[in-house]
Order: sequence, then structure tokens, then C-alpha cells
Amino acid sequence: MHLLNFKGWSGEQIMEIVNKGIEVKREPFKYRDALSGKTLAMIFQKTSTRTRVSFEVAMTQMGGHAIYLDWRATNFTIADIYDETQYLSRNVDCILARLLRHADLQVMAKASRVPVINGCDEKYHPSQVIADLITMKEKRGTLKGAKLVYVGVHNNVCNSLIEACTKVGVKIVTVTPIFNDPSKDEELLEGAKRTGLWEMTLDLKYAVKDADFIYTDTWVDMEFFLDPRYAEEKEKRIRIMMPYQINRENIAGSNAWIMHDMPIHRGYEISPEMIEDPRSIIYEQSENRLYAAKAILLKLLNKY
Ligand code: CP
Repeated sequence: MHLLNFKGWSGEQIMEIVNKGIEVKREPFKYRDALSGKTLAMIFQKTSTRTRVSFEVAMTQMGGHAIYLDWRATNFTIADIYDETQYLSRNVDCILARLLRHADLQVMAKASRVPVINGCDEKYHPSQVIADLITMKEKRGTLKGAKLVYVGVHNNVCNSLIEACTKVGVKIVTVTPIFNDPSKDEELLEGAKRTGLWEMTLDLKYAVKDADFIYTDTWVDMEFFLDPRYAEEKEKRIRIMMPYQINRENIAGSNAWIMHDMPIHRGYEISPEMIEDPRSIIYEQSENRLYAAKAILLKLLNKY
């Protein structure tokens, strides 16, 4: 079983991981030897703070071991992904991969004899969204009937939020003036439409009126953020997106909890004061990446 996205995962299976994450957070000692003798390979083509740290700490705290592999320092750079993964999966028990292209992750999953976890590619970020659902359930008590408003560029995180929310009974409204082309997945969006739980609008005030959660993310994918060749597109995005910034005025009248998957670009997608606002649960959300990582590893390694 892999976790590349939530395709093929039922709402019940997603909730099973969410509930396990909450349990692991409450009773960490119960799982301190659960992954004894297990090894996770973590391979990254892109930068990361949370995904790398949470999965590495998850392995350590559950008695296992994690190996960090910077893509550029491996022979994945000069060989076929399929062949390198054939080897890798014969020496480790699970692979976490943050790759630039989902198509490459699919090759990896096909070649692997062990579970592969998507650590974020251009289309999906499922491990982030497990942490998001854990955070939402902790705050609200139940996910059923909750309403989440995603404000930003329609990207990989937005896809995974739409897919997971509509499967577990959360209404999701997306306010996305820009659609990130590489993130397009018509099949995912068609499936979400059929649930009746996904709505699109550009009316931010209408969207946030009765929201339980307001969620935002970077307007520019991490691999492009400091790239001078992307500077013009970055400026264009800032111009289009600035009216949709999460700030006091734009969400006036809403008591919704404020979420962000981080890293944050202060003063762009969110104003600095909203990060520290009492409604903000951003740092708790980031802490929950650890419990999400633990629950995902336990599930994929058949430990519950
Ligand atoms: N949210 C998230 O995936 O953080 P990192 O990019 O730091 O891993």
C-alpha cells in the first residue's frame, strides 16, 4: 500500500489514520518500539523543513531509523528511477519521496517492493493534509459538517485538501484566482464535484462568512520562490493574489480558525498580525505533522 494521493483511499481509511494520529499524540509511549528494526529512506529533490523533520523524528520516537538522501548526492541523478528504486526497496522498509514530478513518483511506486509515501510533488501533498485533518478534528471535535475555506493559488495542497475533505464529509470552498497548471487533475476535481461538498467562488467575504477554518498557502511553489527566471511570474501572482491576502480586513466578522501549512511568506498570503492572532492554529498544525507521520508509517507498515 502506497500513499501517493488519496485516490483509492476511502473516507473511512483516511479517518482511521487521522484518529490514529490523535491517539499517538495522546499516548506516545504505547508506540515507542512499534517500528523497532524498521528503516525509512527519505529522498528529497526539493527543500523541506517539516516533512523531513517530522518523518525522521517519527521513526526515532517509534524505535526505527531514517536515512536522509539528498537527491543530488545519489545515483538517482545518473540512473533510471526504476532501477535505483528496485535497489532501495530491497534495503529499507518504507520510502518517503519529495519529487518534482508526480510521474516520477509513480515510477518509483511501481518499482518499489515497500510502501512509498508522497512527501509533496507538484500535484499532491497527502501527509500534510492528514496533519490538517488531525488539527481540525482536535479543534472542532468532529469533522462531519465542518466548513474549510482555502484561499490562495489552486496547487498541490489545495488538491489534497479537496480530495480528503470531500471524502471525510468536510465542506470545502476554494477561493483560487490562479490555477497552478502543473497541479491540474481533472479526475480529482470531477470526483469532488460529484460529492456536492466542493464549491468554488472568488467572493472571499461570502466564502469566509460561516467558515470553521480558513486555510492559505504560498502563492509560489518552493522550487521557484528564489528563482530569478520565475521573477516575472512571481510578481504577476503577487499582483493578482494580494486582494485575497488573509488579513484582518479581508476576514472581518469571521471567527474561523486560521491555518497555513508553512513555510509562511509573511506579508504575502497572510499578514504578520494574523499569524499571531488568537484564531491562528498554524503552529499547532505544523506540530501535528509529527503525529500524522507516525500514523501514516504505522498504517503502511501494518502496525495496526
Ligand atoms: N508544509 C511542508 O510540507 O513543509 P516543508 O516544505 O518544510 O516540508
